[in-house]
Parts: sequence; structure tokens; C-alpha cells
Amino acid sequence: MNILVTGGAGYIGSHTCVALLKAGHKVIVADNLYNSTNQALDKIKQISKEELTFYQIDVTNESAVDDIFTNHNIDGVIHFAGLKAVGQSIEIPLTYYYNNIVSTMVLAKACKKYHVNRFVFSSSATVYGDNTVPFVETMNLLPTTNPYGETKAMSERILTDIAKANPEFSVALLRYFNPVGAHESGLIGEAPNGIPNNLMPYVTQVAKGKLEKLRVFGNDYPTMDGTGVRDYIHVVDLAEGHVAALDNLKEGAHVYNLGTGKGTSVLELVKAFEKANGIEVPYEIADRRPGDIASFYADASKAKRELGWTAKRDIIAMCRDAWRFEKKYKDLVESK
Ligand code: NAD
Ligand code: UFG
Repeated sequence: MNILVTGGAGYIGSHTCVALLKAGHKVIVADNLYNSTNQALDKIKQISKEELTFYQIDVTNESAVDDIFTNHNIDGVIHFAGLKAVGQSIEIPLTYYYNNIVSTMVLAKACKKYHVNRFVFSSSATVYGDNTVPFVETMNLLPTTNPYGETKAMSERILTDIAKANPEFSVALLRYFNPVGAHESGLIGEAPNGIPNNLMPYVTQVAKGKLEKLRVFGNDYPTMDGTGVRDYIHVVDLAEGHVAALDNLKEGAHVYNLGTGKGTSVLELVKAFEKANGIEVPYEIADRRPGDIASFYADASKAKRELGWTAKRDIIAMCRDAWRFEKKYKDLVESK
């Protein structure tokens, strides 16, 4: 199939392009490179030994999106393009609502006009809010504490309503848990700008000596060791989940958790990283981070049942691959 991948130069998008090309699909990437570079596109080609087509456009731009649908016989869309920094979304909510909601509507409109009935959307476990764990797809969504989360819940609702009105439209709403790691080649991975907010990129930068020590946000949560628990999922497993979702689309809107179903605490992740890579990660216990919840992980059984997909890579592989990318990324940047 010809698949339009919006945000295909980004962290999850680039790994999904590799998985799509490997599965024999043709890939057309639309990305404005706001949070990525076209270096990732060269690396995708290098890993997959396949070509792809790239449009540097903003997917809120209706006529630019229309041009892509005119130039290519698009069979399906995977919509990753979006802004994702939770804290920033509180500071500039209009930018988040505009970018994340308008992009979804522009793409849905083009799908309607060009009779494209396959759509896969990047949602987030954040839409569950403070529900009890494990999070199950049938749960009522609780309000999130930030505009970013609201854009995901709203986009889900918009796509669900469109599917209700057009019975031929098939949508998979994929709720990601915590994606970490990198492609095992070390050529693509997560390269956040500035000081990372998320745990794994922070850990890899401490391991490299770029940051002095990890601050563990809270050790008095009601969890096994008092530190926060999350469902970390290897980004390559996540990418493969998109191919499975595309292959198993059915009419209507269907929600799937993409997680491992297993919770790992902050200290367990630090220990796993040290074991996987033989490097010490200095840390100190700090105050809880405002807005964090103690623990969440997926009930991942629906994706297994309906998509035939499960995450295969364990926490050691996630830590090993994240570290390999960190080391290689540094070489790439320094050799420029
Ligand atoms: P990323 O920032 O690495 O990738 C997003 C890509 O979209 C970037 O390349 C960016 O340049 C592009 N983009 C943003 N707005 C655009 C626009 N208007 N037009 C064209 N391109 C645009 O982020 P990621 O981690 O790969 O996340 C991909 C998707 O998954 C996002 O929608 C994100 O909200 C969602 N998600 C991510 C996580 C996570 O922890 N990484 C968790 C849950 C959901
Ligand atoms: N943590 C630390 N120190 C750090 C960074 C994080 O102790 O320097 C802890 C957090 O307190 C939390 C765990 O590590 O217990 C994971 O934190 P992340 O920031 O890596 O991830 P979150 O679960 O807070 O949020 C991420 C994304 C959200 C998304 C959510 C679910 O940032 O956008 O996963 O997919 F909604």
C-alpha cells in the first residue's frame, strides 16, 4: 500500500517508516521538521535499503496536504505529526490545540475527498487520566491535566464521529504507553532538544556524562520501591504495532493500547540500564514531580487478540538500544 506517514521524520514515525518499508509498503512522509531533521530520512533509507518520498510541509496546510493526495494514490494514513511536550502545552495551549486538532481535521477531510478509508492515529495513555490500573480500552476517559492530553482525547472523538457517519472509514486509535529505546542499528532514536523531560533520554545523558546525575522524582509512592511505575515499550515493538494495526483495520473506530502490560519502576529501570550496559548511573532522590501519577501500565490483551501483536523486546533490550543510539548520535553530531 501507499502509506502517508505524517511526522515520519520524528522519533516514533521514523521507526514506523522502517517497519512499513520492511513489510513491503511504499512510504510518503509529510513533516515540517519542527522537531526533527531530514537526517532521519537518510537513515531510514540506509536501514531499510528502500526509497521513500518526502514532503516538507505543515499538515495543517490544507492545500499542501491536498497536493500529496493528488500526486499519490494514497491507500492509508498514519498520523504522527503533533506537538507532544506536556509542560509546554500548558504555556502555549492555542498552539497545541491548533496544531494537533487542525492537522487531524485536514487529514480527515482529504481522506474523505480522495476516498481513503484507512487511518491510524497516535494517541496516548494520558487520555486515561487517573483511572485505576491496568488501563483497559473500555474505561471511561478521565479529564487530563494538560492541553496536550486534551488534544489526543479530542482527536480520538473527532475520528470516532467521522467513522460513525461513514461506515467505510476504518480508524485505529493507538494509545501508546512509554516508548523508549532505538533501532538496533543505532542510526535512529530519540534526540530531544535541550535537557530531556523523559526518564530514558535523561538516563542516557547521565551515563554519557553530559548531565551530572538523575533526579528520581519521589520515592514515597505506593509502589514496590516507592518510585513511579510505567509501562515502557521498545519503539521498534511500537512501530511493528502500527503495521499490525494497518493490516487489521476494520470498519469503524477501534482503540488499542500499545504497551507491554508490565510496570517497571524508576529504580528498576536504572538498575536494568546499569546491568545492560555495564555503566553506573548516579542518582539522587528528589521531590515528586507535580502532575505525576504513581503508577500506570496497559492491559495489552486487546491488541494481542485483535491485531495479533505483542511487544517482544524486554527492558534490557530497551536500555541497550537507547544507549547504543546515544553513543552513535554523539559521533554523528561531532563528525558534522
Ligand atoms: P516527535 O516530535 O519526535 O515526532 C513528531 C513529528 O511531527 C516531528 O518530526 C515534527 O517535526 C512533526 N510535526 C509536528 N507538527 C507538525 C505539523 N503541523 N506538520 C508537519 N509535521 C509536524 O514525536 P514522537 O515521540 O515521535 O511522537 C509521535 C506522535 O506520538 C505524536 O503525535 C505524539 O503526541 C504521540 N505520542 C508520543 C509519545 C511519546 O512518549 N513519545 C507518547 C504518546 C503519544
Ligand atoms: N522521572 C524521574 N526523573 C526524571 C524524569 C522522569 O524520576 O528526570 C520519572 C517520572 O517521575 C515518572 C517516570 O520517570 O515516574 C516516567 O516519566 P517520563 O517523563 O519519562 O514519562 P511520563 O509517564 O511522565 O509521560 C510520558 C510522556 C507523556 C505521555 C505518557 C504516556 O511524556 O506525554 O508518557 O504515554 F502521555
